Amino acid sequence: MNDFITMDQINNAVKEIQNRTQRKPKVGLILGSGLGDLANSISQPDFIDYKDIPGWPVSTIPGHKGRLVIGELESTPVLIMQGRAHYYEGYSISEIGFPIRVMKQLGIDTLIVTNAAGGINPEFKPGDVMVINDHISLMAMGGENPLRGPNLEAFGPRFPDMSRCYSPELINRIKTVYVASKIDFHSGVYVCLAGPSFETPADLRFLRLIGADAVGMSTVPEVIVAIHSGMQVLGFSGISNKANLDSSTITTHEEVLQAGKDIAPKLETLIRGLLATF
Ligand code: HPA
Repeated sequence: MNDFITMDQINNAVKEIQNRTQRKPKVGLILGSGLGDLANSISQPDFIDYKDIPGWPVSTIPGHKGRLVIGELESTPVLIMQGRAHYYEGYSISEIGFPIRVMKQLGIDTLIVTNAAGGINPEFKPGDVMVINDHISLMAMGGENPLRGPNLEAFGPRFPDMSRCYSPELINRIKTVYVASKIDFHSGVYVCLAGPSFETPADLRFLRLIGADAVGMSTVPEVIVAIHSGMQVLGFSGISNKANLDSSTITTHEEVLQAGKDIAPKLETLIRGLLATF
């Protein structure tokens, strides 16, 4: 695939998906590291492996299944990405945004993104679920913006506003679900780094200083493309480990997947609660 995504590439993927499902999803849901099990509770879903969709970036790492699960959750037609590809796997930043373009062309107008993240805010502990209220994209600031290249005018403007990426209306609704479900409500700023190496303690002290509450290696490129495409977005970070600002502990991918087992049931409650209001 070229570095920049074209309308033809998007439409080829859309055609392939429409050949394989009759359903018309309205909500897209991306399930991150260790969080894919929610997709298993959809009854009579259509499955489409990423490798069967032209242009779709395929994830290569443990904890990411690599398929679309299309069906209904709380009577809302959803398209679930069970796993995602990351920039650090070698894809261009535009390719990471490709699935969002395809979702939009399929008629999806709401995107719910999830990720596993390190907790930088000292009040966060592993197992917490943070609602993302804003992000810092060090990658996009440094030039790796998924909208770089010819603007796809059919989706949105050359210079899209990013002042309200995470829908205040959806954040209000999800707050009510937290309270009703007796899950501790946390919200904060997510910072996206390229990865795959975890942060040094000095990196983390810097990230705290610039206002980040949670750190990870995904989500932001997808959200930038979704906002450019006019979608409404809600994001969750499952806090899988405490970011280590002083060298006292180490971080491993196994720890991230293990924490996913505590986070997944909470996320399921929250996402079901939200979808029930659609
Ligand atoms: N840093 C970056 N990405 C992550 C982390 C972390 O500590 N935990 C889960 N994803």
